[in-house]
Parts: sequence; structure tokens; C-alpha cells
Amino acid sequence: MGRVAIVTGGTRGIGRAISVGLKNAGYKVVANYFGNVDAARQFSEETGITSMRWDVGVYAECEAAVAKIAAEQGPVEVVVNNAGITRDAVLHRMSPGMWEEVLQTNLTSCFNMARLTIESMRERGFGRIINIGSVNGQAGQYGQVNYAAAKSGIHGFTKALAQEGAAKGVTVNAIAPGYVDTEMVRAVPPAVLEKIIARIPVGRLGRAEDIARCVLFLVADDADFITGSTLSVNGGQHMY
Ligand code: CAA
Repeated sequence: MGRVAIVTGGTRGIGRAISVGLKNAGYKVVANYFGNVDAARQFSEETGITSMRWDVGVYAECEAAVAKIAAEQGPVEVVVNNAGITRDAVLHRMSPGMWEEVLQTNLTSCFNMARLTIESMRERGFGRIINIGSVNGQAGQYGQVNYAAAKSGIHGFTKALAQEGAAKGVTVNAIAPGYVDTEMVRAVPPAVLEKIIARIPVGRLGRAEDIARCVLFLVADDADFITGSTLSVNGGQHMY
């Protein structure tokens, strides 16, 4: 029987590829979504993967969702904290709301989901938590003070929690994707994106599958000696 895996933001973009990759590897996947109901319905029809709507930035909603999943599918042993949004603007034009939304969805969500699954993982002596960071959390990015802060926070969160889980079979790792061909990246103004791609040594945007394969590697049962690490997957854009 496959392990139960939750992928937040798991119906589109990088999350979709992660959900599909895990399903194909035999995991019982629940793909969380929030914003785009139609895309989630289509995703479930196409892939046969259960999708479930809740706001990962709200603790009580995460609590209800994790309880339901555990009751219906079994204990949650894999969590991929992938959900993320951008609200790009230079700081002198960024509203407090743009800051709060990004911090809540991209970083508080990691606390919420890990906090609600870690006790059962520790009791069972097995857990895999993967947090999706970003090259922009490692290197910074013009117009992304909020996003860079949240993603950078994910890297610290990962290293601290990895230390706490290590003796209990719970590994915690981060993946830092570069610019991957998704709706989020396609929303970057074309002239800006052109300059960014010109700085990627591999010469192209990443593919969602480039990230999904790293998740599969890190969640494997025999990846138990890998914890607290960050896997940078950015076509050579930033070597950290
Ligand atoms: N470095 C230096 N200067 C930059 C710059 C950069 N990276 N980006 C923009 N600028 C400059 C522009 O050249 C422009 O200068 P001039 O006025 O002298 O021409 C000035 O900043 C203003 O630029 P805009 O006209 O674009 O101003 P704006 O206020 O309308 O928008 C912005 C600013 C929101 C930052 C916009 O440029 C933008 O969206 N940039 C993309 C930010 C980005 O890369 N986001 C990543 C999204 S994908 C993602 O986050 C996934 C991931 O993890 C990788």
C-alpha cells in the first residue's frame, strides 16, 4: 500500500507535476488547491488524483483537511509544501496586504502543514517533508521583497525542523527551483523574462518535471540520510 502524500498547490504548475510523479510512483496523493476550482476539477478528471480545496495559510483549514485525509486515506507520511503566490512590486509600491498574503501563503503554510502532521510522523518513525523554496529566496529578486523573504524563510525553516526530526525518521529538505515554465513565470513582463532567461547557463526555463523528479528522490524510503539539504534546480542560474 502506498504512503499517503499531500501536495499543496498540487493541481497546477510545479505542484501538478509533483502530484502526478508521486501517483505514478505508487503514493496515495491528495492535491490541495485554493484559487482555481476549474483547473482542479480538470486535473482530477485527467489524472484520477483526489483534489481538495483549502487555504494553506489558515491553520484551522489545514487542521480540518489533514484530519479528513488521515481518516479517509490513512496517516499522512509525505508533505510537499509547494503552494506559492507572487505579488510582485518594488518595496516603495508594495502594500502591507501584498506582504502579508505572500508570507501567509508561502511560509506560514509550511508551519501549518508541518505542525499538523509532524506528531503522527514522529510516532510512526517515518516522515518526509519537502519544502519548495526558490532561487529568488537564495539570491533575491528585484520586485520580490515579499516573495524572497518568504522563500528564504523556507530554507531556515527546513534546516531547523530537519534537526528536530532527524532522530525520529522524519527528514525535511528543500528544493529551490529556478525559473520554471509555469503560469507564474509566464506572468513576468516579457522583456524582464527575456533578460532572466539570458542569464540561465542551460539556456532555457526549467520544466515542472525537473522539480518533480527531485521530490521523488528525496521522499524515497532509502533517502533517509538526506535531511536539511537544499537541492538547487535552476539551470545553473545561481550556484549556491
Ligand atoms: N534589475 C534591475 N532593474 C530592474 C529589474 C531587475 N531585475 N527589473 C526591473 N527593473 C527596472 C526596469 O528596468 C525599470 O527601469 P527604468 O524605469 O529605468 O526603465 C524599473 O525597474 C521599473 O520596471 P517596470 O517598468 O517593470 O516597473 P513596474 O513597477 O511596472 O514593475 C516589477 C516592477 C513588478 C518588479 C516588474 O518589473 C516585474 O514583475 N519583474 C519581474 C519580477 C520577477 O522576476 N518575478 C518572478 C516571478 S516568478 C517566480 O517568482 C518563481 C520563482 O520562484 C523563480
